[in-house]
Amino acid sequence: MENTIRSLQQEIIDFEISTPEDLEAFRIRYTVRKGLIANLFGQLKSVEPAEKPRIGQMLNQLKQTAETKSAEAAEKFASEVSGGKRKIDLTLPGRRYFTGSEHPVQKVLGEMKRIFSDMGFSIATGPELELDSYNFDMLNFPPDHPARDMQDTFFITREENGNDVLLRTHTSPVQIRVMLDREPPIRVICPGKVYRNEAISARSYCVFHQLEGLYIDKNVSFADLKATIYSFAKQMFGSDVKLRFRPSFFPFTEPSAEVDVTCYLCGGKGCRVCKKSGWLEIMGCGMVHPNVLRNCGIDPETWSGYAFGMGVDRTVLLRYKIDDIRLLFENDIRMLKQFPA
Ligand code: PHE
Repeated sequence: MENTIRSLQQEIIDFEISTPEDLEAFRIRYTVRKGLIANLFGQLKSVEPAEKPRIGQMLNQLKQTAETKSAEAAEKFASEVSGGKRKIDLTLPGRRYFTGSEHPVQKVLGEMKRIFSDMGFSIATGPELELDSYNFDMLNFPPDHPARDMQDTFFITREENGNDVLLRTHTSPVQIRVMLDREPPIRVICPGKVYRNEAISARSYCVFHQLEGLYIDKNVSFADLKATIYSFAKQMFGSDVKLRFRPSFFPFTEPSAEVDVTCYLCGGKGCRVCKKSGWLEIMGCGMVHPNVLRNCGIDPETWSGYAFGMGVDRTVLLRYKIDDIRLLFENDIRMLKQFPA
């Protein structure tokens, strides 16, 4: 025992502590709760009683030496750091910092917003938790319209007065909010998230993004709508793009149309994405229904307007050749890192 203590004492004195890592190694070997010194204290009980005081004193001495050495080294390193004297090892590889980047949906939305703001549209937003009346009634949806069904809509609360709270199923209620709030002329786009109770698959998700447009002024015609959409489509999808307006139906517009562009992947020849048709549907649109204007206190005899609404996510998928819409919402860093700022 005595010899062991002596040789350990020498070892501790000789131990060279020149870096914080050395200090850590020193501590782990000698002074921690399961270190060599504690171990020797543990063996003290098997020492002959007569010898105990002497050996005990030697051990205390050993412990003292180790602790003093460790405390002195710690103090030295601390003052080197605060005094800025710590040596910098220039041979170490640099640390890599990752900066955030814009989500692909925000990139595409940003482009759409820029195109419309160049045409004089300002941006309006509304809440994602919306009143039933703004999402449906005031947009001229009849009470028994199928879109009101639980299958399509996420209801949040059922109110006795019938004005339930739901997750908006489209950005059109923002039209209502803007028209109730402002006097015409109005020229806004409303980008945002919308929610539908869809079966989730690679092609559809319960959340997605829309961008709505609304223009109310005197003598606004369908020709104005066509020209605006055409100008947008050329800037967004390329100057060679062709447009097709198909008659359609929405409760809040009359007449209504759906707009297709020539498939910008195959140039209209027909491919897998456009299902060999050569066309891709990009939006719904139409002239704001007089009932909707009236609901918002705007006289349809004086004012007229158009509205359009388009999905954003599909364009994101096509543009970046992403084959599963769910990837847009998982926030997987490995996916997001592929879109550097
Ligand atoms: N709100 C419609 C939808 O979600 C799109 C639309 C907006 C149609 C504005 C016409 C006018 O499908």
